[in-house]
Amino acid sequence: MTVAAPALRASCSDALRGAPGEGVSHSPAIVIGNELPSDGAARDALLDRAMGPRWRRKSSEKLRRGRLPAEGLALVARDDAGAVVGTVRLWEVTAGEGGPAALLLGPLAVDPVLRSAGVGSELMRHAIAEAKRLGHGAILLVGDAPYYARFGFSADKTSRLAMPGPYEPHRFLALELIDGALAGTSGVLRANGRKSRKEKVELAA
Ligand SMILES: CC(C)(COP(=O)(O)OP(=O)(O)OC[C@H]1O[C@@H](n2cnc3c(N)ncnc32)[C@H](O)[C@@H]1OP(=O)(O)O)[C@@H](O)C(=O)NCCC(=O)NCCS
Repeated sequence: MTVAAPALRASCSDALRGAPGEGVSHSPAIVIGNELPSDGAARDALLDRAMGPRWRRKSSEKLRRGRLPAEGLALVARDDAGAVVGTVRLWEVTAGEGGPAALLLGPLAVDPVLRSAGVGSELMRHAIAEAKRLGHGAILLVGDAPYYARFGFSADKTSRLAMPGPYEPHRFLALELIDGALAGTSGVLRANGRKSRKEKVELAA
C-alpha cells in the first residue's frame, strides 16, 4: 500500500462530494461505492483477515444467513488499484414482535494495513447517509460503543430489544434515522430481508 495513513486520513475527513451510492471518491486513492457481485470473495477474505473466523459465528450472522443485504446498502472501500480494503453491509430486520422495520449493520471491517486512516468512518458515514436517503427508520448493530458513539449510536433504544443469540447488551446499539422509529419496540430481532438465490434454490428443492 503506497498511501501513507496520515494523507488518507486528511482526504477521508473531507465531506462527501457526490450523491451516496454513486461511487464517491474521497481521495486520489480510496473510493466508497456499492459492492459488486464479483467482490464477494475479496470481501470475505478481508473479513477473515480483519476479524478472523469469529465474524461467521456472531449472533448477527443468524439474521444475515441466507439473506441478501438491503438494496443499495452493501458498500465497499476500494484502493487505487480497485482492491476491496473496507466493507460494510446492512440487513433488513424486524425490530421485535410486530415491530417496525429496521436495518442491522455489520460486519464493518477495514484492511489492517489501512487502520485508523478514516476508512471505517467514511464507510459508516456513507452507510448512514444512504440508509437515511432510502427512507429507513433505524440502524441496529452489535459493536464497540466507544467506536460507534461518534456516529450517534447508543444502547438507549435497545434495552427492550434482543438479538437472536448470545450478545453483550451494552454492545447492542441503535441509531434512529427517523425520530421515534424504535419507540416502544420490544422483542427479538427477526430477519426480514430478501432471500439469497442459494436459499431460494434450497427452498425450491
Ligand atoms: C473497527 C474498524 C472498522 C475501524 O476502522 P478504521 O478505518 O480503522 O477506523 P477509523 O480510521 O475511522 O477510526 C479510527 C479511530 O477509531 C478508534 N477505534 C477503532 N476501533 C475501535 C474500537 N473497537 N473501539 C473504540 N475505538 C476504536 C481508533 O482508535 C481511532 O481513534 P482516533 O481517531 O482517536 O485515533 C477497524 O479497526 C476494523 O476493521 N476492526 C476489525 C473488525 C472489527 O472489529 N469490526 C467491528 C468493530 S466493533
